[in-house]
Amino acid sequence: MSSSHTDQRQYQSGFGNEYATEAVPGALPRGRNSPQRAPFDLYPELISGSAFTAPRHENRRSWLYRRRPSVVAGRYQPYRAGGDWRTGGDRTQAIAPEPLRWHPLPLPANAADIDFIDGMHTLAANGDADTQSGVAAHIYLAGRSMDRRAFVNADAEMLLVPQQGRLVITSEMGVLEIKPGEIAVVPRGVVFKVALPDGASRGYVCENYGAQFRLPELGPIGSNGLANARDFQAPVAAFEHEGAMPYELVKKFGGHFWAAPTSHSPFNVVAWHGNLAPVKYDTANFMTIGSISFDHPDPSIFTVLTSPSDTPGTANCDFVIFPPRWLVMENTFRPPWYHRNVMSEFMGLVYGEYDAKPGGFKPGGASLHNAMVPHGPDEEAFEKASNADLKPQKLDNTLAFMFESRWRFIPTGFALQTAPLDTDYADCWAGLKDNFR
Ligand code: FE2
Repeated sequence: MSSSHTDQRQYQSGFGNEYATEAVPGALPRGRNSPQRAPFDLYPELISGSAFTAPRHENRRSWLYRRRPSVVAGRYQPYRAGGDWRTGGDRTQAIAPEPLRWHPLPLPANAADIDFIDGMHTLAANGDADTQSGVAAHIYLAGRSMDRRAFVNADAEMLLVPQQGRLVITSEMGVLEIKPGEIAVVPRGVVFKVALPDGASRGYVCENYGAQFRLPELGPIGSNGLANARDFQAPVAAFEHEGAMPYELVKKFGGHFWAAPTSHSPFNVVAWHGNLAPVKYDTANFMTIGSISFDHPDPSIFTVLTSPSDTPGTANCDFVIFPPRWLVMENTFRPPWYHRNVMSEFMGLVYGEYDAKPGGFKPGGASLHNAMVPHGPDEEAFEKASNADLKPQKLDNTLAFMFESRWRFIPTGFALQTAPLDTDYADCWAGLKDNFR
């Protein structure tokens, strides 16, 4: 279950709209972006999330007013992140076209020494950061707050899905707090650090090299529904007061990690405005749509955010959730059908049970069904759903999700050799008999 802790922080509402916020009244210039001298002699700095000439509806950028520009930093030295963070798919690996599943990834005994960056483990990835396509699916296993370490990912935006423990995300634009059941998206290039107030923490990350996540089109659903823009929350401006506070800035750049010392906190933005910002979202606010007549609908109705590719309707990545919901379909096999998809599906479970695999898929675990790999309900789920009395039924206390991609996910060496692979996974279908009469 999700924790009952309530986030009391202040936020701005909306997704990709023009936020404006100042930690000190008057710090935000009015009427222009870069006056000759900005209020309080702050440095104006632009960060863009799209090419300058991107279409207006896709154009994202923010203006930051800060005590020192980001260019003031020490020299970068190679840095070896402690975990198993990989970039892009290693296509030299021959991977059998079979379904894969992992038991919950255990937190290491020394989790208290490992922070969010060093605790990142890539389970599967596709595409390539330099060509700006594809995603990686990671699990973080960590227990240490980043304190005076900051991180910036030049390769990708990051979608954070905590499964155990809250995350307090301090970013250049302010502070976000998320708990299991909530998610956050940190744009490419935005500096942030993660504190772990609950100690040992685990969760999933989608590192998106491609087009930034946005709300999906709603088509005939209309102007409301699924994830509503107003339920996304961006931080208000906040900065660390202490001027001389040495930091280590870790940067991911072309799949490599670098670290540079800085003499001051990178969290020194006193005011900002614009439509590029980290956001959080509580999946409890997802307006779930389902069938009220018959059949199990396509899971695209559960899309929270989508990263489109160059082919319309064929996503670089869809972030899809399976939240609590009512099942009322008549004369219908209610769990997911057996299927083979052209898209590739990486799946995780935040809490509860997933209806197609009630026993075998555990919170903190993962599964991978790549393009055209057949899968579906296990034997137990099939038997149960085929014989169930079809009363309205609430699937409650459950939150599964998918990172679904048009590109085949390639599991990493860590995923295949170190992580607790469920080697018996395929057996969950072995008992499905020929029932033809
Ligand atoms: Fe599937």
